[in-house]
Amino acid sequence: MPLHFEYHVPVRESGIDPVLLENRGVRLLKLLGITSHVSIVFMDDREMASFNLRYRKRKAATNVLSFPADPRGVGIPPELAPDDLGDILVSAETAARETRREGKPLNDRLTELIIHGLCHLLGHDHERSEEEARRIWLMEQDLFRQVQFSGRHTMLHLAVNVDHVATVRQARGTSEPDPVIAASICELAGAAGIVVHLREDRRHIQDRDVEILRRTVKTRLNLEMAATREMVDIALRIRPDMVTLVPEKRRELTTEGGLNVTGGRKKIGGVVEQLNGGKIPVSLFIDPDAQQIKAAGEIGATFVELHTGRYCDAPTRDEQEREFDLIRRSAADARAAGLRVNAGHGLDYRNTPRIAALDAIEELSIGHAIISRAVYVGLDQAVREMLALIRPPFAGT
Ligand code: PXP
Repeated sequence: MPLHFEYHVPVRESGIDPVLLENRGVRLLKLLGITSHVSIVFMDDREMASFNLRYRKRKAATNVLSFPADPRGVGIPPELAPDDLGDILVSAETAARETRREGKPLNDRLTELIIHGLCHLLGHDHERSEEEARRIWLMEQDLFRQVQFSGRHTMLHLAVNVDHVATVRQARGTSEPDPVIAASICELAGAAGIVVHLREDRRHIQDRDVEILRRTVKTRLNLEMAATREMVDIALRIRPDMVTLVPEKRRELTTEGGLNVTGGRKKIGGVVEQLNGGKIPVSLFIDPDAQQIKAAGEIGATFVELHTGRYCDAPTRDEQEREFDLIRRSAADARAAGLRVNAGHGLDYRNTPRIAALDAIEELSIGHAIISRAVYVGLDQAVREMLALIRPPFAGT
């Protein structure tokens, strides 16, 4: 774990809850996309005052101090960041005084100070300008809200898309490797669902695969498909546990963008109605966009699957931040609108933990990265490694 906690004060007597703070700390690193090492040290006022005097020439103790490990400072993208991001020193004594004054729980105040310290390590500086101070304050409030009720109400699920097992099979037109067997291995390794995309051109998954999978999948079978009459008939006959409607273009390498629900409300709404009539819950694969979410709710979708492709493919750190922010807000908005929320596309072993830290998301749909890794380490291990990344490291809280 890239997070090290040190307590120079008696934990129980000070009222510090180390499990809660460490759990929140791990979630914060994920939300901020930090993979390098961070140390957080809790101390008393005397020790804090000595650091404050030595490094800032100030005589009294303060609540929090951050020491970036890299003298170039800050704002460096994670791929260039040193293994060690830096240290955060927190005075538990000052925090306790502040909580008494403000009437809030000590561990919430300590969490706020950790967030503040992390923002400094990442190069945000509230002393540079009023505008920046306000932006940082808003960001800190937002981060606090996300970790305050640390932990999700339900465990995040992993659904594995086995299309690319069929892609390899179709390359030779034989019967191996079989996506049906692959699906069983994924389930045995802990996947909570299996996803297959039956494309109009049948380039990978075949009708026979979906038919057998319907009988063999023990978890949940999610059939991805275009909103066409042919596919609706197949879905109503085979009865998957759910359907995810996706846009489909003949020439695309993979699903390129989200569904245009606002523009195709009548057609998509009709398909949702037919599938709902057959008691098949429907998910709409959409871009993280407020209008699309609103339309998805209005036409009776049960789920939305937020398209994570732009976040995964973002060429710069800034763009990735913008895309992450859109996904984060869209997930919360969709949930607030009564929709259940899944996410997927382009997720891999590096970019997934941050998305997995978003409480509003119930399930991730991941294919290419897992099947690719399976070539090297085996499918069972590839699934287990992904599960280890998306499941919280601590039980409870
Ligand atoms: N979700 C949807 C709707 C998809 O179309 C795909 C790709 O088939 C995925 C998730 C999985 O994407 P990837 O293979 O990049 O993990």
